[in-house]
Amino acid sequence: MKSPYHKILPSLRLVEMPEYAFGQLDAIKEELKAEGKEIIDLSLGSPDTQTDPIVLQALTDGMAKPRNQKYPIFSGLPAFKEKCSEYFEGRFGVKLDPKEQILPLNGSKEGIAHIAFAYMQEGHLTIIPSPYYPVHMRGTVLAGGNVYELPLKPENNFIADLDAIPEDVLLRARMLILSYPNNPTGAVVDKAYLEKAVALCKEYNILLINDLAYADIWFDEPDDKPGDRPRNKPHSILEVRGAMDIAIEFHTFSKVYNMAGMRLGFAVGNPDIVQTLYKLKTNIDYGVCMGVQEAGIAAVNLGDDYREQVRLEYQNRRDYIYDELTKMGLKVNKPGGAMYFWIPIPKRYIDENKNSFDFATDILEATGVAVVPGLTFGRYGEDYVRIAMVQPMDKIKIAMERLASYLA
Ligand SMILES: Cc1ncc(COP(=O)(O)O)c(C=O)c1O
Repeated sequence: MKSPYHKILPSLRLVEMPEYAFGQLDAIKEELKAEGKEIIDLSLGSPDTQTDPIVLQALTDGMAKPRNQKYPIFSGLPAFKEKCSEYFEGRFGVKLDPKEQILPLNGSKEGIAHIAFAYMQEGHLTIIPSPYYPVHMRGTVLAGGNVYELPLKPENNFIADLDAIPEDVLLRARMLILSYPNNPTGAVVDKAYLEKAVALCKEYNILLINDLAYADIWFDEPDDKPGDRPRNKPHSILEVRGAMDIAIEFHTFSKVYNMAGMRLGFAVGNPDIVQTLYKLKTNIDYGVCMGVQEAGIAAVNLGDDYREQVRLEYQNRRDYIYDELTKMGLKVNKPGGAMYFWIPIPKRYIDENKNSFDFATDILEATGVAVVPGLTFGRYGEDYVRIAMVQPMDKIKIAMERLASYLA
């Protein structure tokens, strides 16, 4: 052998990256299924409802067109980008140039990972609230940068304290990632918070990344006044004055349109930043399948009524689960949006030096209800588990009954 290496090795960045942990409990799930136990899976945030038949038809019709069977238009189907811009203006009151300010993505996750490859240099910093949606950390680290974790604390309702970022971190940071409604905590922020983030990023010349995966999944509160803007309804970062100079925002079709399997999302924002992401992606992929983009147009055309109906279904689930978990004596933050409950593990686990993985394993083995150990979302998740509201109400009811009798 002429090579100086003993074997074929992956990069150190990849070797050192913790395993993507959503599958950690899969082996136990399989064992239980083999024993004939019914698993109620509240782990992955993959919506349970089927994609609308109109969208599926648009996909079939789209793929039947010979043009769409070839490589896609790199920069995206103009009609899809125009449809996204129409949605965006209707939803957030912000006008975008579809050519320069909108880029279709193969799901928002790849865009969030790739933006780091477009902007990070070796040793640069990204500030991420933590616990985090995994790609917020992984994109930067795989691109050679480092992350500064800003802890999300229950006493701050899991909202990242921007005033707590040390000056030397701000001076070294290249990117800040925000994501509210938040996965995994369900926390939401108001417009004043986004304004503060924009001002901070402008002062320190930091690229502001807003992951708005749950733009249309948010919850009413009993004290919302009829006619007023509901407190939890998310704003786009681009509604904030000055954000267009420094921000990019990520949207997905996976959640509100139940299209996780088709892999469709889009980025919007400052034209130079969007075009830089596009430039990076031309080196890596061929853009998004055009039949899928046609399905995306049909999805947006389902309209406000469809999006509202999906939102209200999650609202029902949230209200029910919140009541049940509270009755069980669990101290949970009431989610203002997204699809998750972030639940502290019982104190006796901490006393016995056990963590979220032990608690999730015990719940799964005893009740057949699958939840995600909080460590999946970084070290600040160690003492939590996450429940996703991704089963129909009848299944959720059974899951809550099982959990209640187990914890009792
Ligand atoms: C906060 C957040 N961002 C992005 C995504 C990824 O969405 P997509 O399916 O568009 O890649 C998810 C999925 O769970 C998410 O929770």
